[in-house]
Amino acid sequence: MAAIAIDGPAGAGKSTIAKRTAKALGFIYVDTGAMYRAMALFMLREGVDIRDTDAVADAAKRAEITIRHEGGEQVVILNGENVSGSIRTEEVSQAASTVSVVGQVRERLVALQQELARTADVVMDGRDIGTVVLPDAKLKIFMTASSAVRAHRRFLELKERGEEADEEQIRRDIEERDERDRNREISPLRQADDAVYLDTSALTIDEVTERILALWK
Ligand code: DC
Repeated sequence: MAAIAIDGPAGAGKSTIAKRTAKALGFIYVDTGAMYRAMALFMLREGVDIRDTDAVADAAKRAEITIRHEGGEQVVILNGENVSGSIRTEEVSQAASTVSVVGQVRERLVALQQELARTADVVMDGRDIGTVVLPDAKLKIFMTASSAVRAHRRFLELKERGEEADEEQIRRDIEERDERDRNREISPLRQADDAVYLDTSALTIDEVTERILALWK
């Protein structure tokens, strides 16, 4: 099956672009971050100390995570419950980054991601898609933007939803998460040797999508 892998730090625009690209090509969009977020939500709800890697590895066995597509949108299911609406908080973002360092968590989710790519054409985004999950993907993109731009985009997104936001705090949170995602031992965020580097700081969503569609052709 055909696959496009998109990796990069938080807030670079991966999911927006991946969704559009998938739609344009008739592929399925797979948001792997949502799976780590569902795993983190499970740990928070169960009261697991997320800094205790043994406890996280053990609890992960009790979390059944799957995804479904409804009307073109990915829905994440945690032990039978649709948790898509509960995984986008700042608390879950940081917890996802923390539990994703644990090998047992990654093994389970990577297997699920690889299975999805075996059965459908996918645009998959995350941190280790081009390096670990789909090393044979035909097109790999490493998408980034300055942390100031990424924080500003997030700030606008929250404002639009009517939520309170402190741009400086958002920037610090993003930088903290990137630091952890880049420096973890297993499958850290890094550009695959054969990935195309794309800095979206000064580009519009349409420009980035066009660029990727042209590369795919
Ligand atoms: O893409 P996101 O912000 O939804 O991802 C949340 C966290 O999950 C991210 O900080 C690190 C982790 N993650 C990962 O380790 N590997 C992936 N392929 C996707 C996400």
